[in-house]
Amino acid sequence: MNFSAVLTNALNWTGQALALGVFESDQPMETTLAPLNDRYGGVLADLVQDTNFQGKAHTVASVRVGRTTAVQDLQHLILVGLGKAEHLKLETFRVAAAAAAKQAQQRRCNQLGISFPAEALDPFATLQAIVEGIQLGTYRDDRFRSDVDESLITLQEVLILQESGDLAQAAECITQTLQLCSGVTLARQLVAAPPNVVTPLTMAAMAQSLAAEQGLQLEILEKEDCEARKMGSFLSVAQASDLPPKFIHLTYQPSGTPRRKVALVGKGLTFDSGGLNIKVAGGSMEMMKTDMGGSAAVFGAAKAIAQLKPDVEVHFISAVTENMISGRALRPGDIVTASNGKTIEVNNTDAEGRLTLADALVFAEGLGVDTIVDLATLTGACVVALGETIGGLWTKSPDLGEQLIRASERSGDPLWQMPFEESYFEVMKSPVADMKNAGNRAGGSITATLFLNQFIKETPWAHIDMAGPVWTDKERGYHPVGATGYGVRLLVNWILSL
Ligand code: BES
Ligand code: MN
Ligand code: ZN
Repeated sequence: MNFSAVLTNALNWTGQALALGVFESDQPMETTLAPLNDRYGGVLADLVQDTNFQGKAHTVASVRVGRTTAVQDLQHLILVGLGKAEHLKLETFRVAAAAAAKQAQQRRCNQLGISFPAEALDPFATLQAIVEGIQLGTYRDDRFRSDVDESLITLQEVLILQESGDLAQAAECITQTLQLCSGVTLARQLVAAPPNVVTPLTMAAMAQSLAAEQGLQLEILEKEDCEARKMGSFLSVAQASDLPPKFIHLTYQPSGTPRRKVALVGKGLTFDSGGLNIKVAGGSMEMMKTDMGGSAAVFGAAKAIAQLKPDVEVHFISAVTENMISGRALRPGDIVTASNGKTIEVNNTDAEGRLTLADALVFAEGLGVDTIVDLATLTGACVVALGETIGGLWTKSPDLGEQLIRASERSGDPLWQMPFEESYFEVMKSPVADMKNAGNRAGGSITATLFLNQFIKETPWAHIDMAGPVWTDKERGYHPVGATGYGVRLLVNWILSL
């Protein structure tokens, strides 16, 4: 899809389809639509009348206004509701732009002009939101189909109409937004691919091509390297798999002196069967291909960061493996030792993510970074607490917490801060080792965080549990059914704000 900004107003623009963002009111015809209605012979008044369009959020109405043969004339008009002006957020624009693009596709259009009230919010943030909404909202994943209906993919050109502003700057903003979206797309593709396609081996190969294409440094610790580093916790999860574990470390080094050094750590379970504490029937084991969502977010962020080139040194880390069963499997009751020397009594092999993250966090802190953020599809408990769209955030650093919440608001990746209740560590105590790897049902995502906390010494650190938002079963705004790419926009927004 090709995006560009053009200086014109909606009244003068002609092209195949024009989408107008309309605020909610009882009388939409009396406001912004009146001049266009006059220009197109009253067709908008009819459309509003026929569909009872009032500009409510998540509503769309469209009508044909001209003939295909009349090249100079507009052919389709699309109205998209923006809801009440006083409730306007960037997210409204993302959702509305996606709705407009989908409507244009349904009308078999290949060109769309889009006119939203840019003066209501920051004009570049608005432009970015429109491009994100369309690029992410029209995303399709046909990699695993042989019966693709190509005729559904029509939209090729999107023109964002603005009455004023600097077009060169707008073009730059579009380029950067598409770079960000390329990271989201990578994350979506990694998460959605089945676990026989995305494996520790193919994740390592993907990291290698990413490094080569984007000029990132790559380090892969093989099993022997992990053994040498005494990553007994990560390796205990990997030991049942027929595939070798891959500890992946990509680095983005800015050209000048970095203002900050950060590490992003992602949970990278390409499949989670639960291990010997096998997941129950009806427990959605078939969805556990999404258990590398943290890793996907981190590598998606790597792809975007490498193109956006901030003055921050960023390490992208994931201990990648799958949690399987075999005669070599980790047993409930086994005691393993992590690379910081701490011992763990494994009372539940399905609490495997934290075992892999333990060694990844120790590695990250060893790099001497000034902040660590990890993302993980860590607990079902977090989905119970926050639902399927909101990630959970834990940090002891008020500054980092605030930065990440602001990045969430700007980016559109929802995040809610949860209590770092250290007294709950009581249930993680083991009679035989330094700790157990699983507590009880109560506060399950808090106790998971407290387990991870055992592997951080002093570096400011935040943990994000994304078990809910990694995937959507229903089409939601600009997220088609499937992998959402959650975390990429959040991480990149945060890094760009440092
Ligand atoms: N990968 C799962 C968490 C998960 C559950 C992600 C549902 C997405 C949707 C994780 O490894 C896991 O199994 N966690 C256990 C922890 C428990 C054994 C302490 C859980 O949440 O039940
Ligand atoms: Mn598990
Ligand atoms: Zn898991």
